[in-house]
Amino acid sequence: MEVTPVPGLPEIIPGADLAELLAEALRRLGPEAGDVVAVTSKIVSKAEGRLVPGTDRGRWIKSETVRTVARRGDLVIAETSHGFVCANAGVDASNLDAGMIALLPEDPDASAEHLREGLRTRLGVPLGVVITDTFGRPWRNGLVNVAIGAAGLPSVVDLRGTADHNGRPLDMTIVAFADELAAASGLVMPKAGRIPAALIHGFAGHASAPDSSARALVRPVAEDLFRSSPLQAIGDRRTVRSFGDGAVPREAIIAAVEAACTAPAPHHTRPWRFVVLESAAAKHRLLRAIAEAWRADLRADRAPEDVIERRIARSDAVLDAAPVLIVPFVRFAGAHPYEDAERGGAERDMFLLSGGAAIQNLLLGLSAQNMAGSWISSTLFCQEETRATLGLGDEWFALGTVATGLMPGGGASRPRPPIEPEDFLTWS
Ligand SMILES: Cc1cc2nc3c(=O)[nH]c(=O)nc-3n(C[C@H](O)[C@H](O)[C@H](O)COP(=O)(O)O)c2cc1C
Repeated sequence: MEVTPVPGLPEIIPGADLAELLAEALRRLGPEAGDVVAVTSKIVSKAEGRLVPGTDRGRWIKSETVRTVARRGDLVIAETSHGFVCANAGVDASNLDAGMIALLPEDPDASAEHLREGLRTRLGVPLGVVITDTFGRPWRNGLVNVAIGAAGLPSVVDLRGTADHNGRPLDMTIVAFADELAAASGLVMPKAGRIPAALIHGFAGHASAPDSSARALVRPVAEDLFRSSPLQAIGDRRTVRSFGDGAVPREAIIAAVEAACTAPAPHHTRPWRFVVLESAAAKHRLLRAIAEAWRADLRADRAPEDVIERRIARSDAVLDAAPVLIVPFVRFAGAHPYEDAERGGAERDMFLLSGGAAIQNLLLGLSAQNMAGSWISSTLFCQEETRATLGLGDEWFALGTVATGLMPGGGASRPRPPIEPEDFLTWS
């Protein structure tokens, strides 16, 4: 395999005919059909006039961003309109005249296709084209060239269903072939070396794989396990009142309860208990107890029988449908004793608040594992019956019930109604 730097390209200016300039430079290297030309996105951006004055870098990063994935100080990791997740939404000042910054090409796959066609006309051989950019990677140090545009080659090669050399079937393997070529090109395109293109020849190709654009390298949202930033994950949680088929893994519940138990609590206590009802019998025992207590309360209120049954049925519709019910409790044993009612009440409130914080963490823990959860008030209104049914002592105070199950098809994608921050804020 040979990776050859392509020397002799002039400084690229907006409007330059990049295919013409590349063809000229490549001719001396004698490219063969099937070879791949890797070209940095920077010269594509320059030729396509994607240069803007650097004075307002922040504004350009914002306008190139469709989703902020993470932010630390000045560093923004953002998703671009192409679906790439990279530093500063790909807005970059390196290898440019002072005062200018480059945006990524608008449609790098189209740019690659255009270059491929231009090179084929001029050189008479079909070449693959990869447009590269240098990305950092989460969990790994160092930058590496990746493909952001591709034409005339399979950007991804799906090997699932084929066998390894022992005959063992490959279940998961999809090769990021265009990224491998891009990384190889990086070996001969040093950052300060003024070599913006490389010719790759003699690599082991994937003759039977169909060509695909670099867009195929962008993982679909539904398959993205790491999509949410911590801040986003909070907003992504929704109350989900229906559930998908399938058992709830205990590990998921344990992980959510572990998250719950990181809630702040007064006086260095951990005043919580989570009773998990998995069996139909245990769930129904609780639901019957709640319904009986509620029925008695509503009858005492002289509510009509049909209204009573409707309300119970509505509550049961969620709790009964949930594969697992988690009943959270708090106890006030750690509260400091006070003679006066005000301070005594405040102590109790502190413990209640920490119960609320723990349940929010529980819901966030479930949501982070793509589990459905809804916090239903139910047991709050029938403390004695709940304790008796679940076999807990008098010191425990029930905080409702969290109905839990797998996320139903379609997930919790309802958009949350936006808020006006100032409606919730007082500055002083
Ligand atoms: C203490 C408490 C009790 C709740 N009780 C119920 C309930 O009985 N039934 C219900 O459907 N939702 C209940 N909810 C959930 C709210 O209805 C839900 O949070 C609200 O609709 C906002 O939706 P979101 O969680 O997706 O933002 C309760 C929430 C809290 C905090």
